[in-house]
Amino acid sequence: TEQGLRIDGKAAAAELLEQVKEDVQAVVKHGVLPTLAVILVGDDPASDVYVRNKVRAAENVGIRSLEYRLPASTSEAELLQRVKDLNADASVHGILVQMPVPKHISEAAVIQAIDPRKDVDGFHKENVGALSQGQDTLVPCTPAGCMLLLRKVLGQDGLRGLHAVVVGRSNIVGKPMAALLLQADCSVTVLHSRSKDASALCRQADIVIAAVGRPAIIGADWIKPGAVVIDVGINRISTLEGKTRLVGDVDYDAVAPIARAITPVPGGVGPMTIAGLMANTVKAARMQAG
Ligand code: GUN
Repeated sequence: TEQGLRIDGKAAAAELLEQVKEDVQAVVKHGVLPTLAVILVGDDPASDVYVRNKVRAAENVGIRSLEYRLPASTSEAELLQRVKDLNADASVHGILVQMPVPKHISEAAVIQAIDPRKDVDGFHKENVGALSQGQDTLVPCTPAGCMLLLRKVLGQDGLRGLHAVVVGRSNIVGKPMAALLLQADCSVTVLHSRSKDASALCRQADIVIAAVGRPAIIGADWIKPGAVVIDVGINRISTLEGKTRLVGDVDYDAVAPIARAITPVPGGVGPMTIAGLMANTVKAARMQAG
């Protein structure tokens, strides 16, 4: 049988970044330098890599970035004050606090402190509400990236009427993903750890979005032949040789032969997330310029 199409997220992200670069230049011509502030509290190694990649991507498209690395001992009040200062700074268009934050800091308090117009993660209640009502707003980067990949495979209007199953219900991915798919006229099912007969429900999907954070739990028995599979999972596992390896939530080798198209890990959704963040930063700069 024919192998499913391997969706090249790196190439799609490079294309999007090229577009963003042009948009940045257009905004700069109007005298505005799009600027992203990234805050990292503590020294989680994975977060450190993510923050470095975000700052580097910004540099590559001409977005100015400000990096704030705060010690793990930073109090919630100190972090909120930093956010407020950046809210008040008109030269800053996007504010991102890398999650997770240390346990003594409330994630929700930090997110709600960010000016919604600078909320390039799309996590603020105001943006979440706007998305659920189908308004044009700052949308979480990973789901936005997944939508771009789906439209690449299926065509701009090719999602209409299809059954999409989202596996996972996080605020960062699952819930906004469901909202975007609904907006694209899909019939949407959201599955989660308490779902009964999850694999049987998933097997009815034309589109599967895997966002649970468990290595390779979605096997071939979850997938209808010909389905399009988007794997959001990034799981670090140890190999027999004592090394670590990145795998998705989908058992790629088992699913690829029956899928119409599938994203690999790494090289699928991951690069799209960062490109989406850059796109949101320029969008925020444009909105604030009026
Ligand atoms: N940690 C993991 N994913 C994300 C994300 O999309 N945004 C932020 N701020 N932190 C994260």
